[in-house]
Amino acid sequence: MQGHSTYQPKSGLAKWFESRLPIVGLVHSSAIAYPVPRNLNYFWTFGGILMFMLVAQILTGVVLAMHYTPEATKAFASVEKIMRDVNYGWLLRYLHANGASMFFIAVYIHMFRGMYYGSYKAPREILWILGVLIFLLMMATAFMGYVLPWGQMSFWGATVITNLFSAIPGVGQAVVTWLWGGFSVDNPTLNRFFALHYLLPFMIAGVVALHIWALHHVGQNNPTGVEVKDFRKDTLPFTPYATIKDGFAMICFIAFFAWFVFYIPNYLGHADNYIEANPLVTPSHIVPEWYFLPFYAILRAIPSKLGGVLMMFGAIAVLFILPWLDTSKVRSAKYRPMFKIFFWIFVADAVILGWLGSKPAEEPYITYARIATAWYFIHFLIVIPVLGRIEKTKPLPASIAESVLGPSGGHGFPGGAAASPETKG
Ligand code: HEM
Repeated sequence: MQGHSTYQPKSGLAKWFESRLPIVGLVHSSAIAYPVPRNLNYFWTFGGILMFMLVAQILTGVVLAMHYTPEATKAFASVEKIMRDVNYGWLLRYLHANGASMFFIAVYIHMFRGMYYGSYKAPREILWILGVLIFLLMMATAFMGYVLPWGQMSFWGATVITNLFSAIPGVGQAVVTWLWGGFSVDNPTLNRFFALHYLLPFMIAGVVALHIWALHHVGQNNPTGVEVKDFRKDTLPFTPYATIKDGFAMICFIAFFAWFVFYIPNYLGHADNYIEANPLVTPSHIVPEWYFLPFYAILRAIPSKLGGVLMMFGAIAVLFILPWLDTSKVRSAKYRPMFKIFFWIFVADAVILGWLGSKPAEEPYITYARIATAWYFIHFLIVIPVLGRIEKTKPLPASIAESVLGPSGGHGFPGGAAASPETKG
């Protein structure tokens, strides 16, 4: 799909440079001439939004780190100093804290899009697996970031989650002591979490580069799930078509983000995190940030600690093998009437799990959480493999062009992606 670049350097200097480091050609072939299916809808703009959010988190985070003190007796006060004394510190912090939530909103939409349109299926398995890896790294980064303000929820959230490792048979307690760097969550824990919270986003950026490389190698899926057949008819060049659409979607997303930052900056946070960490006072309900709640519900649904931990990690592990669990030949839910229904039941199940994760661990919530957890695994391990075998799918369009323009299939787009040889495969 990538092939040779069609970029022709014009000036002597540009030619000299390009023959030594063909980076302008690389940008040209991946962001200008790159062929995108002509029928992509707005759900395909979230990858770009995610890239924007990653950069925004890194930029705001680096500046916050200049004013933050990763020391247990000073961390909380240093965050308050950022909020009150640092010029625009309140803005930086609210952007970064709400930015994490926006990042997760975008990533969940991006993942559910992939599930709905079967984007994880061959030949996009590695692309999908890299995505799940990014998701894991994002969760680790967000978890450690939440500990840094050293509020009550930071401290107790860290205590609950790190303690989970004590469930590992034999070596559990030793692992937890090693993670903490002591005998409880304390200054060494805060210090290492700060170091890792700073490091991991750059690792995410590295995996994102692989993700995009894989994407450009196999090409994008599209709402029909039918592969590109004729580049001249089925695709358009990335610029201006996708750039403008992605840009417009990004502006809308930024407006949504800004609404939280400027009007309800603490809506997604927990009031207890404005109380400094106190190892002697346990909050009545320890709840993680909203984006962890479905996994938290799964963790608490299982009566044994080890079982809960295994199920929680299993809920993510199952995503890695999704490309092989789905046996259907048809990718898109648009042509899979039964899968479509089960997809929406699964979305509801995930939302219900999230709601249950925010409730206290008592009846009737525990029973509901057990049912919703069971359904989560039934969906992946039974429904998806079985549906692929028994479902009667709808007829697929002959091509992407046909799905847009009707049976005539239309003609090549003047000056479309066909203009560049690399778009021919
Ligand atoms: C920092 C996080 C991420 C970034 C920056 C990112 C970026 C992108 C971009 C730019 C695209 C192409 C545009 C689009 O399809 O929206 C894409 C496609 C894709 N991403 Fe991600 N992604 C991220 C996380 C994930 C995660 C967590 C998953 C799944 C678990 C995932 C799975 C996919 C798949 C399957 C595609 C191909 C979609 C298709 O062609 O239909 N991505 N990603």
